[in-house]
Amino acid sequence: MSNLSIEQKMNVSLSINGREVEAEAEPRKLLSDFIREDLGLTGTHVGCEHGVCGSCTVLYNGAAVRSCLMFAVQANGSDIQTIEGLAKNGEQHVLQQSFTECHGLQCGFCTPGILMSSLEMLNSGEEPTKQEIKEMLSGHLCRCTGYTGIIAAIERACGIKKCKEGDN
Ligand code: FES
Ligand code: FES
Repeated sequence: MSNLSIEQKMNVSLSINGREVEAEAEPRKLLSDFIREDLGLTGTHVGCEHGVCGSCTVLYNGAAVRSCLMFAVQANGSDIQTIEGLAKNGEQHVLQQSFTECHGLQCGFCTPGILMSSLEMLNSGEEPTKQEIKEMLSGHLCRCTGYTGIIAAIERACGIKKCKEGDN
């Protein structure tokens, strides 16, 4: 059995948005808190802290995960993508453009998590059905939009259809 105390820090080195970082974290530190507090990337939001709201979703080796359900040390050696890595060279990602055009966001609290799950969907190369988009969104709570604009935005980003007046 390890003699590691809960205050004792461990090395965590990972790639975040294509940048290699090395830091130390207590074994109990959540990945969500590590990303926000130690790496200063506060675009990943924390709502419920127990895996329900989806606002803390990031890509972990390409898969959408709740960063509040992982310890930072579990991400050692991994490739993490957060909302800050979406825009490139000052150009918004198609998901960001679509959420703006289709009125897929209001306060924006849920938005980073939804965008990261949508990115996983987009990266799969498969064209999702509306039902699959709804199933993906069942893991994300939005208290503002009513979801119609969010679904339209994801459909637009996937090239399924353009959003139209009244999608919000
Ligand atoms: S903060 Fe992680 S799922 Fe809600
Ligand atoms: S836009 Fe406000 S919670 Fe989703």
